[in-house]
Amino acid sequence: MDEIPARPVLLTGASGALGRVLAKELGAAGWPLRLTDIRPFPDPLPAGAGFTRADLADGMAILRLAENCGTILHFGGVSVERPFAEVLGPNIQGLYHVYEAARRERARVVFASSNHAIGFHERSERLDHDCQFRPDGYYGVSKAYGELLGRLYWDKHGVENVNLRIGGCRPKVNNARTLAIWLSYADLVRLVMQATLAPAVGTLVIWGASNNARGFWGRDGRAVIGWAPEDSADPFIPGQQGNVSGNPVEERYQGGPYCAIDYTRTEPSPKTLFPAA
Ligand SMILES: NC(=O)c1ccc[n+]([C@@H]2O[C@H](COP(=O)([O-])OP(=O)(O)OC[C@H]3O[C@@H](n4cnc5c(N)ncnc54)[C@H](O)[C@@H]3O)[C@@H](O)[C@H]2O)c1
Repeated sequence: MDEIPARPVLLTGASGALGRVLAKELGAAGWPLRLTDIRPFPDPLPAGAGFTRADLADGMAILRLAENCGTILHFGGVSVERPFAEVLGPNIQGLYHVYEAARRERARVVFASSNHAIGFHERSERLDHDCQFRPDGYYGVSKAYGELLGRLYWDKHGVENVNLRIGGCRPKVNNARTLAIWLSYADLVRLVMQATLAPAVGTLVIWGASNNARGFWGRDGRAVIGWAPEDSADPFIPGQQGNVSGNPVEERYQGGPYCAIDYTRTEPSPKTLFPAA
């Protein structure tokens, strides 16, 4: 993919696991990158990229960082289940700051959402992009909120956004659940490139998973951006299919271990959200 965005691209969470992959690959492709994180950037800076340390809870800093940017790749924030007070600043206030900056710059937002926004759907269900949100913790709630903020800013201000509901994006499949939700780094990089370069996106949800035979997810907005995964978790099936937790709550739901954190129900939560009339 040789096309390069005309305006600078702001990448939040640049010092994190996925941010570092994106900074390296997009930098190598010659993209004009502006990197930011609350932690120092641990790698050599890609040619043409700058790094600024900033807290997502600092709205002025995010406005300044986004000046003249055409796209904000929003990968920063709390990326695991944490108490609500820890999620609030980076993920709730932070998302608002990102969207205010995008509104001012007429920029597109590509948001690293998560399967944990829908984690309390059972694993037997096949979900489309318009399924109900069923977050499995405060982190998952913050991702559902981020997607909804995207809807609001599209409807009210015309801010385009692509919400990547990422499964498990890591170098290798490390358990049975990840056979369904794995996203390879290479598929992630192509997904982010297409989400940035596609001429018009409106507001989209795309499942961030490779081409996994055991996948939980179906329809989404990928055709709009011309993306299809090229990798697959399937070669890991023999080594990982027996690698389960033994926790019935974790194994029942798509969100896995996050569903089991602080779980106080005595009966499983029902398959459908609303009882039949
Ligand atoms: N890795 C996955 O499999 C996966 C799955 C679903 C969603 N995601 C989402 O993708 C994004 C990146 O994930 P990751 O695995 O690289 O996570 P990560 O924790 O490695 O990276 C997140 C980065 O955000 C930064 N950050 C945290 N609080 C901040 C703040 N207040 N201000 C500025 N920066 C702050 C951290 O310093 C960190 O470098 C996250 O939003 C995560 O929720 C990742």
